[in-house]
Amino acid sequence: MSGAETILKSKNRITIDNVREQFPFFQQPQNRGLIYLDSAATAQRPQQVLDAWQEFNVLYNANSHRGAYKIAERATDEYERARAKVADFIGAASPEEIVFVRGATEAVNFAAYGWGLHNLKAGDEIIITEMEHHSNLIPWQMAAQKTGAVLKFVGFDETGMLNMPQFYDLLSPKTRLITVTHMSNVLGTIPDLAAIIKAAHATGALVLVDGAQSVPHIPVNVVELDADFYVFSGHKVLGPMGSGALYARREILEKMEPVFFGGSMISDVDYTHSTWNDIPWKFEAGTQNLPGAIGLGAAIDFINKIGIGNIHRHDRDLTDYALAGMQGIKDLRIYGPMHNRGPVISFSLGAIHPHDLATFLDSRNIAIRSGHHCAKLIMKRLRVPATARASFYLYNTKSEIDEFIHNLENAREYFSKWN
Ligand code: ALA
Repeated sequence: MSGAETILKSKNRITIDNVREQFPFFQQPQNRGLIYLDSAATAQRPQQVLDAWQEFNVLYNANSHRGAYKIAERATDEYERARAKVADFIGAASPEEIVFVRGATEAVNFAAYGWGLHNLKAGDEIIITEMEHHSNLIPWQMAAQKTGAVLKFVGFDETGMLNMPQFYDLLSPKTRLITVTHMSNVLGTIPDLAAIIKAAHATGALVLVDGAQSVPHIPVNVVELDADFYVFSGHKVLGPMGSGALYARREILEKMEPVFFGGSMISDVDYTHSTWNDIPWKFEAGTQNLPGAIGLGAAIDFINKIGIGNIHRHDRDLTDYALAGMQGIKDLRIYGPMHNRGPVISFSLGAIHPHDLATFLDSRNIAIRSGHHCAKLIMKRLRVPATARASFYLYNTKSEIDEFIHNLENAREYFSKWN
């Protein structure tokens, strides 16, 4: 397998081999030859991230914001340094606008419980799209059911593009929130957020952007985007599982209610009432996932070293290469746009069930995801129970994609015997 393709196109040429060498996962004898095409589900982690996680545990494991001794101070400093790295990485105006969470799902729940339940009332409308992951749908169903707010859905066309005329029709003075993905985890679609946010703000609505799939692959600047909320998971961006961030503009976080209550999130405590700490700590009750946050900071350092722009270009090249190859396979149907999309390709191959296809590819040492991808509204609209999905990241190569395509051809041939 050749990884001599370059990812960093500058004087400091970095090959994919150089990148892969830094991922212990790919060096393990049992993983040699594995073609991992499921980074949209979770990415592999570089040594730098594992080291940061380990160092916390062996060198300065202590609770943050509590102890007056050296390692506790170091733990607090490293945790807050990680917050500053996250803020910088997504262009937030200040680290206080970053709340550490377990992942994008928890971040959306924070917004739904902390903002939604206190700001929505009967008759208010939330505009959402039919291409949302369940994590950006179910929390809003809950908030709507509890407040009497109404969900309004924007559909997508056969090329996987959002129906923008429908969005503009739905937008009204009743709209309080638009909640939308930055990159569909099934279709790869990258909605026109600039247009959505501009129109939303003109009517006084807020916008939450689900960046779970975009943050790993494209440069994000929440201030330029003018997003009100932005959420992402650490584990898809080379960080540890159980790490992630909720961004919201300072004035929103300041007014937003905490969702969890207990240690460390208070300013003062009395018998029947208490007051809350400043942002972001009022949202971080109890012991936090310090090694997770610190590991996420290390992942951001790793990405910054390579350059998110270089990663973006590499992922886009791989995606275009895969789309071109897959289009040549008889009976293969690709879902989503053919241009300007994320490095995630959902597809079906004739009448082969996606789980059968994934199992066949697994027997050839190729890992893809199959199923509804936690996006059942997309499946309903596509009128399929499931799709197969391949997704790419900075450590994947064109030769891996060649092997994948070759084995799709083999699968078609193999299963044709049973049809
Ligand atoms: N949300 C992740 C995916 O799309 C798990 O696979």
